[in-house]
Amino acid sequence: MSRKLEEGRAYELREEKRFPRTLRPAVHLAPRIGWMNDPNGFSRYGDRYHLFYQYNPYGTDWGAPFWGHVVSEDLVTWEHLPAALAPDEDYDRDGCFSGTAITHPDGRHMVMYTGFVLDEEDPQGRGIQCQCLAWGDGREYVKSPANPVLTGADLPRGGDPHEFRDPRLWQEKDGTYRVLLPNNDPERGTRLLIYRSDDGESWSSGKVFLKNEDRLGWMWECPDLFSLDGKQVLLLSAMDEAPNKRVYALLGEVDREKEAFLKESARILDQGFDFYAPQTVETEDGRRILIGWLQNPDTAGDRPKDLPFCGMMSLPRELRREGGRILQRPIGELEAYRTEPVIRRDLRLEDEEIRIDGITGRVLDLELNLRPEERGFRSFALRFARKGDSWTEFRFEPEDGLIFLDRSRAGPEKATFHRKQIKIRGNGEELQLRMILDRYSAELFIDQGENVLSTLVYADSDAEDITFNVSGSAIMDIAKYGIKEK
Ligand code: FRU
Repeated sequence: MSRKLEEGRAYELREEKRFPRTLRPAVHLAPRIGWMNDPNGFSRYGDRYHLFYQYNPYGTDWGAPFWGHVVSEDLVTWEHLPAALAPDEDYDRDGCFSGTAITHPDGRHMVMYTGFVLDEEDPQGRGIQCQCLAWGDGREYVKSPANPVLTGADLPRGGDPHEFRDPRLWQEKDGTYRVLLPNNDPERGTRLLIYRSDDGESWSSGKVFLKNEDRLGWMWECPDLFSLDGKQVLLLSAMDEAPNKRVYALLGEVDREKEAFLKESARILDQGFDFYAPQTVETEDGRRILIGWLQNPDTAGDRPKDLPFCGMMSLPRELRREGGRILQRPIGELEAYRTEPVIRRDLRLEDEEIRIDGITGRVLDLELNLRPEERGFRSFALRFARKGDSWTEFRFEPEDGLIFLDRSRAGPEKATFHRKQIKIRGNGEELQLRMILDRYSAELFIDQGENVLSTLVYADSDAEDITFNVSGSAIMDIAKYGIKEK
């Protein structure tokens, strides 16, 4: 083991005590200590799920990433393992960037990631990016002597080796490997490349799997590809003008002869402020589970500076497809964590703002259904993490089918990115909402998860009030649960 990894491991073991349970989110995964960004290597290996993450143990800002490592049986409760990779080789000394993991037929955990080395000559201060392998047993990971296995020399004409990262690796039925790799061509824009290999170490020359014909961002990051109820889904995290980094889910087919993605449609996966770089895994019972970094990379600086960590993952979400819609819902396993239900049915609200006994707090799982009354239903506002005039607001205007998310009054840490308005499918005038609030975040699932909005909530910890406001009149059913903390 390198000194860098050994020191990182000793440091996290010692310093994680500065991050007590009471400061952690209840069910959202946060780093052991320090900084977390993208999920990496999300996989089932042996009898547990493994998740790695972009990790700087030494501070609460991004810095030459290690790979942090956690394991779980139910994808809700995670156990921290020692950091798996450190930036300790010539080809990755400034960071072990994002990547993926699969189980090799011989039983080893096979990891592919991007090595990053700052380029002194680059006027923008970027780094050279190359692709590397590491082999593990679920705890200890050893980098391949063949590294780097793909470099700038393997790029098709025009490719920029400073923008060549985040391998998405898989193995075909015939035992050969494929990897998808985003790359930028300064002349023609970003594209996704595909390479093939017999052993994972020597790779073919790259071909273009998908071009950016629709201008979805100037550089793609962190691709994922999987099938969902009979269609292929390609996830791309697109770098764009700040603060519009977002995740696109493309539906389509893979042309296996040409090794190309045939896009049929594209949608934004999460319409909130904070969601990026997701990866998925398939459970043993065939569900597709997605987990993302609950942060907009452009606004990671807007936060209280007195916490011993920065960054967390979204809840794991189950994906389903119905026609052209992708539906997301919090993983079913979360229901086993519900406690102390408060259930009210047929509450009539008319031009008023109410509080409901027993429905307050910053850690809760809330389900709500709102039906219009004859007299007309003009708007609904849910204000949460509220203290006096400070709150985060979710608003629904049924006549226009509009949803608003507004955190312009959300406590002392002013976010640069405040308000969102989205048009949802006219769903009669009913609203179905599930909201998980977990200390520093809210994830809102609307209409069976066809629309999802995620946001960080950096309000004071005692901002615990929740109010319900209706203009016009409507009938509400509501169920609120606490969430058991492990
Ligand atoms: C996305 C990203 C990846 C890269 C990693 C570095 O957030 O920029 O493209 O691999 O973060 O930490």
